[in-house]
Amino acid sequence: MEHLQSNTFSSFFNGQKLISLKRVSSTNDYLKQELSKSTPFPEGTVIMAEEQFMGRGQVGSRWEGEPGKNLTFSLLLRPDFLPAHHQFQLNIAISTAVHRVLNTILGDAVKLKWPNDILVDDRKLGGILIENSVQGAYIRESVVGIGINVNQTDFQYAHRACSIKQLLHREYILTHLLYELCESIERSYRQLKTHDFLAHQQYYIAHLYGIGQNKTFRQQNKERNGSITGVDSYGRLIIRFGDDTETFAFKEIEMLY
Ligand code: BTN
Repeated sequence: MEHLQSNTFSSFFNGQKLISLKRVSSTNDYLKQELSKSTPFPEGTVIMAEEQFMGRGQVGSRWEGEPGKNLTFSLLLRPDFLPAHHQFQLNIAISTAVHRVLNTILGDAVKLKWPNDILVDDRKLGGILIENSVQGAYIRESVVGIGINVNQTDFQYAHRACSIKQLLHREYILTHLLYELCESIERSYRQLKTHDFLAHQQYYIAHLYGIGQNKTFRQQNKERNGSITGVDSYGRLIIRFGDDTETFAFKEIEMLY
């Protein structure tokens, strides 16, 4: 891992730390390793990398991209006000914050695919990987990993991917996007602290990919057709299959495109 720079960061939590790395296995792993060594990182610390050689996605998948072209960072939060059984509210708050920024840049085609993928026209623009550590009944620390495809235009190995540059036909400055995202996340996070879950939940549902449409889902290697009707306060996906409605926690079901 090579260090690029380390400086203070003016938007999130009034000037916390931004560490820019040239190359690292995964910004989530780097942040978790430092925390396990008791490095005194304040809440709002951001680890950003030009290149990750073992970037991680949801459910054990890899997160890959051309070095220097995309935004890959991890943000440290300490949402110790959030009961562990409401941890999905953090996913919702972060997803809506990211969506708001991308929606301003790219318009209404930006959708959130449950639980927290960012899609444009069925193609993946970004993803979020939140790793929480829980103490007792509450969350202690959250490592919020965000990857957005920004200036990469060749996705030979990732068929269903797209980038801001492909959509806007111009480059987008990575650090500008980082600041915009952190500002938006900070706003959402402050609202989350007031336990105002409903506003985020409504926004999330309003921008949910596939809502009300007939889609194919995979549940324990079985494919089923149904339509999403919403998400409950625990973040479970509510799907109607014929006349029945069922709810699913993360990893219990997967929506196929
Ligand atoms: C997904 O869609 O599966 C989640 C992708 C999350 C990728 C980001 S990039 C920065 C951070 N570090 C990682 O190793 N993963 C997340």
